[in-house]
Amino acid sequence: MIVDILINLMIRQAIIPLAGLGTRLLPLSSVFAKELLPINGRPGIEYILDECDDAGIKEIIFIISKKKEVIKKYFFNDKYYKKIIKKKKDKRIEEIYKKILKYKKKIKFVYQNYPKGTGDAVLKTSKYIKDKYFLMLLPDDLIMKKNCSKEMIKIHKKFNSSVMASMKVKKDTVSRWGIYKIKKKIDNNNFIIDDVVEKPNKKDAPSNNAVIGRYILPKKVFSLLRKQKKGQGGEIHITDTLRKLIFLNEVFIGHIFKGKYLDCGSMDGYIKSGLEISKL
Ligand code: G1P
Repeated sequence: MIVDILINLMIRQAIIPLAGLGTRLLPLSSVFAKELLPINGRPGIEYILDECDDAGIKEIIFIISKKKEVIKKYFFNDKYYKKIIKKKKDKRIEEIYKKILKYKKKIKFVYQNYPKGTGDAVLKTSKYIKDKYFLMLLPDDLIMKKNCSKEMIKIHKKFNSSVMASMKVKKDTVSRWGIYKIKKKIDNNNFIIDDVVEKPNKKDAPSNNAVIGRYILPKKVFSLLRKQKKGQGGEIHITDTLRKLIFLNEVFIGHIFKGKYLDCGSMDGYIKSGLEISKL
């Protein structure tokens, strides 16, 4: 019985939507997978994988598309590495390969060939999610210095709830984010969410508490996602389904994270991220 309860609260799987077009990073994203672009010498996705690893995640599901198979190749290029290592006997390359092998062991791939939105991406993983709750990380959002996923898992265990990472944003920028309304304050960094709206106008926004790309979601999200209609911009948004879950009394906690936020999804943010990380 106790074992069952503990397993129910464990977060062992993470999903990462990677099939997006990345138009905010054009022209680079017309030929590269934006998640492989280097940020201070390392692909952005590696920072996300390190966060998962350090948070105790055992399996990571990459949602990619045919157009972004280069991401698979980055992790599954064994023949190439083995050949080079044999030929060059270079310590640096051996170390890099070791790290790639470590990541590779945890990664699975599913396909979302048409970029219909984050909600649709999540739905593609439904067959593979085993536990009652799982983690989702959006790769455009890097959070450095303090492991946000790890902190959120602690909150989840304490309250047996779903969790979304969040930060306060300037009122003028609310239409860039999912914005939530607070029902109840738990402490200075954690709030029970009353409602969440995807990219509202400034005048309709219920607050300036923005959702940032880390979520602990319940498995029951899938049955609602199957029925989710297109929303803002013609996409299927995870936020719209989370809103329904909240109305069905699923407890969602907005967690104000302590780490340093870097927005790697826009050209301006991407350039700044490299500079900021090099200073950490
Ligand atoms: C997504 C979510 C949005 C959230 C944001 C965080 O938007 O839909 O609710 O605030 O990530 O980065 P996107 O960046 O895909 O436009």
